[in-house]
Amino acid sequence: MMRSFDPELVPHTEIHRLLVGGVAPRPIALVSSLDKDGTSNLSPFSFFNAFGVNPPIICFSPAYSGRTGAAKHTMMNLDETKECTVSIVNHEMVHQISLASAPYERGIDEFVKSGLTKRPSVKVKPPGVAESPFIMEAKLVQHVDFGGKPGSPNLMICEVLLIHVREEILTETGGIDPVRIDQVARLGGPYYTRAKEGIFVLPQPSKPLVGIDRLPQEIRESPILTGKHLAQLASLEAIPELPDGLPNLEARHSKAKHHLDRGEVDKAWEALSNGKW
Ligand SMILES: Cc1cc2nc3c(=O)[nH]c(=O)nc-3n(C[C@H](O)[C@H](O)[C@H](O)COP(=O)(O)O)c2cc1C
Repeated sequence: MMRSFDPELVPHTEIHRLLVGGVAPRPIALVSSLDKDGTSNLSPFSFFNAFGVNPPIICFSPAYSGRTGAAKHTMMNLDETKECTVSIVNHEMVHQISLASAPYERGIDEFVKSGLTKRPSVKVKPPGVAESPFIMEAKLVQHVDFGGKPGSPNLMICEVLLIHVREEILTETGGIDPVRIDQVARLGGPYYTRAKEGIFVLPQPSKPLVGIDRLPQEIRESPILTGKHLAQLASLEAIPELPDGLPNLEARHSKAKHHLDRGEVDKAWEALSNGKW
């Protein structure tokens, strides 16, 4: 049974609880900005992501306060000065970014409150966060304001002008090492997750694959194999032949399931075809 929630009928606080719990884990942008007098501000935002690379666009949402409807200082600063840095949050930093998120008065510098360190930027005025392994300098290209009611989003769409990456997290081929960067991400309420504790590998399909619809009928209608197993079997570039009328369906499928649960797709096909594959 599913329960359904209509934003037209349910209070926005309830929708907030559902969305932050369901659309998760979310990466955390630690946004540094300056007001027009040059006073520094630092706040975390997990309504955040990157959306493409040419040009490189990121976006985060300092929503109007769900309780009071007040605008976030980060939003006001970006409207005034059009620049920010976005530092990615790793596990070591998480207590300090939580401290930076407390509702301080405008004009309070959360670098000072959180003990995080300013790292001078090159192309923009706001500093980055020296403790972060991945810092982006960015300029505001568009602010989409969804209405100024409590909880209304503000999309701060920014173009990345410069990226700073700590040497130790780069792989030999120039990628980001998913263990060494050690990001944390936000779930609902007080829950966070540490990415490196849940990493697993899935091959990236770069060519059209067989697909479940083209698997032999015996497999598609298996009483033992589930969608997950069928997808593993169908992630090949060509359809394997399965001899007709093979006996012992349950035994063959159980053996195949055993292999698929261990990621052994070749052995699963061997088991399904009684070694005739
Ligand atoms: C991990 C984390 C993620 C957060 N994400 C958001 C968010 O996406 N949008 C938002 O409006 N507030 C978010 N907050 C709350 C803001 O950080 C908080 O309201 C902060 O005081 C805003 O600061 P400012 O008014 O100086 O910009 C988050 C807080 C934490 C700890």
